[in-house]
Amino acid sequence: MMAVYEATATAPVNIACIKYWGKRDTKLILPVNSSLSVTLNQDDLCATTTARADLAFERDRLWLNNKEEEIKAGGRLATCIAGMRSLRREFEKTDNSLPKIAEYHVHIASKNNFPTAAGLASSAAGFAALVSALAQLYKLPTTPSELSIIARQGSGSACRSLFGGYVAWEMGTKDDGSDSRAVQVAGREHWPEIHALICVVSDIKKGTSSTSGMQRTVETSPLLQHRTSNIVPERMTAISKAIKERDFPTFAQLTMADSNQFHAVCLDTEPPIFYMNDVSRAIIATIVEYNRAAVAAGGEVKAAYTYDAGPNAVIYTLKENVKEIIELVSHYLPHAVPFKDAYGLFAGTQPVGRLPA
Ligand code: DP6
Repeated sequence: MMAVYEATATAPVNIACIKYWGKRDTKLILPVNSSLSVTLNQDDLCATTTARADLAFERDRLWLNNKEEEIKAGGRLATCIAGMRSLRREFEKTDNSLPKIAEYHVHIASKNNFPTAAGLASSAAGFAALVSALAQLYKLPTTPSELSIIARQGSGSACRSLFGGYVAWEMGTKDDGSDSRAVQVAGREHWPEIHALICVVSDIKKGTSSTSGMQRTVETSPLLQHRTSNIVPERMTAISKAIKERDFPTFAQLTMADSNQFHAVCLDTEPPIFYMNDVSRAIIATIVEYNRAAVAAGGEVKAAYTYDAGPNAVIYTLKENVKEIIELVSHYLPHAVPFKDAYGLFAGTQPVGRLPA
């Protein structure tokens, strides 16, 4: 009987606290600054990808959520597949008994377990699952950091989804990108109390994609230079320290400040890019007031909002505050009820809220 070469892998979504925005090399996807994110619960929000290699396949093919996608020559998908194939080729050279499957074409099928209504960028989980599935198919002895270098060339933020927990993407200094990779700052078990509430403000597809938006920012925003040189390096150090020390108020303040500055460089872009809407801003005001009241009562900052290239909020908080925040958001912003307590990261949480019909 012929051997079947097939493997399946999953990768979760990640949400950045220190944002990646801008490339210094658009082909290799090398960023202008380092970034840091939290990887969400695998069970709640992830991409699952199956890859198969077969001598009988005539070309590489890929299906995303049951729909075939074109693998454009020189495009991001082709680059990732070629990168993984070349690792397999190197591996085959080390051991003559390995079957020469790097020469076979592959068929790849990927699907997301989260509804598009979540408004979450799926490319990060998608590319991370793609390289993981191929790494398993090829039985590569690679580390997640090594794989992150290839996932990065599919979508920058994908490199961070190769790890669970708290993950940094180190921008690196080399021109070939060999040191621009993800590393784990702390595992999921280190700080399991943190939860992420995803508040769906709108599920309409965003106007400006991350890829084109960030390129415009690089070309036109004078503020970006200040951010990358003077702000992000210190924030990366400070937030890593806050995570290691489980210092929520510092983690929260840095996360909110960086979301604000990311949206400020979008506004500083020519023409300006607006990702947040009035409901997004109302959620910010609600969280600011919630934190102000907590501090006024002698306590500490209890929640942090963050927004990516769209209007939906992610609120980081400690488990003990989840119920209170959901009530607060539902009360003031009934159209932005937290859709899912997605972090649960560690604890296998149940969905805690639903978007009203
Ligand atoms: C705002 O990783 O989607 O979510 O590298 O062009 O594919 P490409 O961009 P992408 O950008 C993500 C931008 C962000 C911030 C972040 O996740 O760090």
